[in-house]
Amino acid sequence: PINLRGRNVLTLEDFTPAEIRFLIQLAAELKAAKLAGTERPRLSGRNIALIFEKDSTRTRTGFEVAAYDQGAHVTYLGPTGSQIGHKESMKDTARVLGRVYDAIEYRGAGQDQVETLATHAGVPVYNGLTDQAHPTQTLADFMTMREFTHKHLSDCAVTFLGDGRNNVARSLAIGAAKVGIDMRIAAPRDHWPDPAFVEHLRMVGEPNGGTLVVTEDPQEAVEGADFLYTDVWLSMGEDEERWEHRIHQMTPYRVTAALMAATGNPFAKFMHCLPAFHNADTEIGADIALRFGIDCMEVTDEVFESAASIVFDQAENRMHTIKAILVATIAG
Ligand code: CP
Ligand code: NVA
Repeated sequence: PINLRGRNVLTLEDFTPAEIRFLIQLAAELKAAKLAGTERPRLSGRNIALIFEKDSTRTRTGFEVAAYDQGAHVTYLGPTGSQIGHKESMKDTARVLGRVYDAIEYRGAGQDQVETLATHAGVPVYNGLTDQAHPTQTLADFMTMREFTHKHLSDCAVTFLGDGRNNVARSLAIGAAKVGIDMRIAAPRDHWPDPAFVEHLRMVGEPNGGTLVVTEDPQEAVEGADFLYTDVWLSMGEDEERWEHRIHQMTPYRVTAALMAATGNPFAKFMHCLPAFHNADTEIGADIALRFGIDCMEVTDEVFESAASIVFDQAENRMHTIKAILVATIAG
């Protein structure tokens, strides 16, 4: 029997394939219960601190609604307004919040920060995104893949295109190795994951039937794929000065209708963790359009809005999978 009570969620590295499948299954059950109106609150009287040193829509609302649905309360601590980081160390913050809360979520730059929290809080700590990892995203992605294919995850091929070194790509690749996915990463060479990490992923994948191909060739990478996945070309915290170079080097990896067709799979789906630059309807999008004369970056509006796009299912499933994490790690 799987028991995740008291566990941190810092990276999927720490979870067995069975534990990952357990969380996805629990999320599916919680989703069904919510839809049926039969959800039973298992976190009444619990309190959860949500620390966000970076912006968020899905992760914050996911944690808040998941907690409320289960009867728990949350406190949002934003980039300003608390002592965190300016006047008080993460270690001291951990010991304070650990006395007051039943669990702590953290989004910020450093994986070391969320690890320090986990070491000293004495309550479960969840990584809501760092520069290195976005584990709760990957759980939602796997849940969504399961909803949109009749195959087992271990029989699926997933291609990540773009910045193969970022948090989302890395967590997806770790999760893929654990559940036995045929994982491909198509990226410019300087955005390939580190060779040591690739080696590690292949080792982790081996007993689970997970394989990993890293290539510069997007056409080759998408052949036979069930899911094409992309993310922004410049992540939060990266220097905005890099836009021009990124656009130049990443444009061949843009998910277009032609690339979807190049899968040769009429059932291939498009995935994105969001937010996405698929048009110029945002402040940054409009600025990019003006400066570089392009109206999309990592994905065309056509693909984003197509029937193959399951991005809003992913977004919804963030909440259900976060709820599964809360229930599994906090509930009695
Ligand atoms: N995908 C994701 O983490 O979105 P937010 O940045 O809105 O939380
Ligand atoms: N790679 C992106 C993911 C956002 C959810 C970022 O870190 O900005």
